[in-house]
Amino acid sequence: MTDVLRISDLGPDGLASVLELASAPAPQPLAGRGVALLFEYPSARTRNACEMAVVQLGGHPVTIRGEEVGLDKRETVEDVARTLACFHDLIGARVASHETLSRMAGALRAAGSPVPVVNLLSDLEHPTQAVADLLTVEQEFGGLAGRTVAYIGDANNVCRSLVEACLMSGMGVRVASPDGFGPTDEDLERTAKLGGDLRWTNRPEEAAEGADVLYTDVWVSMGDGDAEERRRAFTGFTIDERLLDIAGADAVLLHCLPAHRGEEVTEAALEGPRSRVWRQAANRMHGARAVFAYALGVRPGGPATAGEAS
Ligand code: CP
Ligand code: NVA
Repeated sequence: MTDVLRISDLGPDGLASVLELASAPAPQPLAGRGVALLFEYPSARTRNACEMAVVQLGGHPVTIRGEEVGLDKRETVEDVARTLACFHDLIGARVASHETLSRMAGALRAAGSPVPVVNLLSDLEHPTQAVADLLTVEQEFGGLAGRTVAYIGDANNVCRSLVEACLMSGMGVRVASPDGFGPTDEDLERTAKLGGDLRWTNRPEEAAEGADVLYTDVWVSMGDGDAEERRRAFTGFTIDERLLDIAGADAVLLHCLPAHRGEEVTEAALEGPRSRVWRQAANRMHGARAVFAYALGVRPGGPATAGEAS
């Protein structure tokens, strides 16, 4: 059993295993079992990808809105987690505060529960997104090591998981953000420990030059305040065809979606021949299936059920 709250919880070997599982036929560790999918924020891709991933693993997904259980309002986060663990083999949660995930996992571990918690997006990270991102790069280029991803925009939850996943996979990373929207001190410390080829800059062109992948995300994430101030600050950080040309003829565009055309990406770039965003979106299901299976103890080439694997 493995909680996946941050992409680093997988470690480099675990991440490689998850990517392998994502391309393999679905094992059946959840036959006749349930998975709770709790959403404090809206979702199009993650909810649908996760529900279908659970079905593919033989299980039954139960999606719950935050307000239905009232985290720390109707009852404590810990009591919600322990209640869901009475009925389900895994809890996936999209939360406003990463601490909610830590509290859920902490309560379950303290109670001796074997039910893993998987982060479906928090203010800190979006690890299941990063798995789909790497899967898409792998499919495009036939491998990861030595490829370079340039992330242009807010050094946010999506960026954080992506950067760490790339470094754990032997990829080069460039991140271009406006001043004030770059890495935190903790990001600098954590990525320095991971080592590898990483450069932070405030110049999109510098990041894009020679990159295999240009990646962006919204300028205003769920929970972010002052949208107008952010839009002003990010002027000049739009991925357009000019920036794709700077990257190179074979460079592709990724975006976790939802997209705001005319802000972080132009319509022409998003809908153009170098965009892989719909393949990336489809990979959310394969990535989620692999993360869930791994969290339940399934390993590549191993027994097909969690019970047999443990
Ligand atoms: N990329 C992503 O997580 O999309 P949703 O917010 O629609 O789930
Ligand atoms: N950074 C965005 C990602 C949405 C999938 C957000 O947190 O809203």
